[in-house]
Amino acid sequence: MEFTIKSGSPEKQRSACVVVGVFDNRKLSLSAELIDRASNGYVSEIIRRGDMEGKLGSTLLLHNVRGTLADRVLLVGLGKERDFRDKEFRTAMRAAVKLLNETGSYEAVIYLTEEKVKRREVGWRVEHAVVVAMEAVYRFDQMKSQPTEVRRPLRKLTLSVPQRSDLAAGEKAAARGLAIAHGMDLARDLGNLPGNVCTPTLLGQRAAELAQQFPQLKVEVLERAQIEALGMGSFLSVASGSEEPPRFIVIEFMNSPKKARPYVLVGKGVTFDTGGISIKPAPDMDHMKYDMCGAASVLGAMRAVAELAPPISVVALVPACENMPSGRATKPGDIVKSMSGQTVEILNTDAEGRLILADALTYAERYDPEAVVDVATLTGAMVIALGNVACGVFSNSDALARELVAAGEEAYDRGWQLPLWDDYHEGLASNFADFANVAGRAGGSITAACFLSKFAKKYDWAHLDIAGIAYREGKEKGATGRPVALLVTWLLAQEGAAP
Ligand code: BES
Ligand code: MN
Ligand code: ZN
Repeated sequence: MEFTIKSGSPEKQRSACVVVGVFDNRKLSLSAELIDRASNGYVSEIIRRGDMEGKLGSTLLLHNVRGTLADRVLLVGLGKERDFRDKEFRTAMRAAVKLLNETGSYEAVIYLTEEKVKRREVGWRVEHAVVVAMEAVYRFDQMKSQPTEVRRPLRKLTLSVPQRSDLAAGEKAAARGLAIAHGMDLARDLGNLPGNVCTPTLLGQRAAELAQQFPQLKVEVLERAQIEALGMGSFLSVASGSEEPPRFIVIEFMNSPKKARPYVLVGKGVTFDTGGISIKPAPDMDHMKYDMCGAASVLGAMRAVAELAPPISVVALVPACENMPSGRATKPGDIVKSMSGQTVEILNTDAEGRLILADALTYAERYDPEAVVDVATLTGAMVIALGNVACGVFSNSDALARELVAAGEEAYDRGWQLPLWDDYHEGLASNFADFANVAGRAGGSITAACFLSKFAKKYDWAHLDIAGIAYREGKEKGATGRPVALLVTWLLAQEGAAP
């Protein structure tokens, strides 16, 4: 979809549709007021009749409104004016775009971006309008033999800003939003692909294609022999049960003019997690195709970074493999040696994410990174703790954790910090190796993060446990593209923060 920024009066827009807001209870926004005046009170008449109360997310499509140059006027309910915040803005925007996409308009001019949102500037509104619009029209039908055509899909949105002096900020924000949305689309597509298509090999190919598309990205895809040579015994112990060969994907975007240290993103790329010999129960096991969503979000973030090309350096590392039971699979009690030299007693082969991330975190040391952030669908306990709203944020640096939480807040892609206190490490003790890969059930997300922290001692590090936010179940089943927005917002904030 294409986006443009404009400043001008709604009644003068020659467009298939002009979209204006109505507050609860029946209060016209400024742009709705202008349409009302141009049409001699037509909008207020309709509202008096009770067809649009202004309830958040409600819509009413009007045709041939006199005094305006547009074919249609879409009224969108904004809810109570004093409650119009981040979530409400996004809800109204989503409702408008969903409706536009299902009606005859292939383009529209949207005035919702003119409405004041508490504590947010025009740039925030434009960026989020773009992200939400792209999210709303996203479809995944590449696996259907007969994709259902959208009759007249929405092709172009014009977002209105209050003043001409807002145009520059609006355009910059639209570019940011579009890059984030493209990254999220990539993450969603990869996440939604089934395990028999989205293999470690495919992830490697997609990374290589990304570098073709964005020549500033340098990609290297390591195969089994190279992974062995690096001594990644922990990663390889997970891959060993599968016929699918593992991949270790490295993507570099080195664009810091002063050669500042890079930010490293690490994504868990388990393309299917059966649990291995500690096999999972059958119900909902299909969800484990999403166990590469950390990797997908890291690739999505790299795509956004490449598109925007900020003056910072960013590296993505993706250990990718399948976790399968077989005669060659790792068994409970097996002890492996990680790339760091530390040995691990694998008491549960289903705690595999931490085993592959451990070696990637050690590999990250070679970049002398400014900070490392790993992203992983790591624990079921995370879904219990924070549900589908926020991801868990764990860090050995409270300052870094605060940055990530703030970025999540700004991106409406939130994370919440949990502790990594020493007391939580005790459960990982092993009589036979340096430590075990699991502790008890209690505090499972925290002990998993504690395990990772043992491999992230040489730099500032944070871990995002995205098990609850990476995908949705039920009617809207599918990958969400989260936390691409959080990651990109955080990285772009570093552009200003760099020394
Ligand atoms: N990929 C799972 C975590 C997961 C569970 C993600 C549910 C999304 C939804 C991970 O590899 C796993 O199996 N974790 C175990 C750890 C346990 C064995 C200590 C878990 O959470 O049960
Ligand atoms: Mn598992
Ligand atoms: Zn897993």
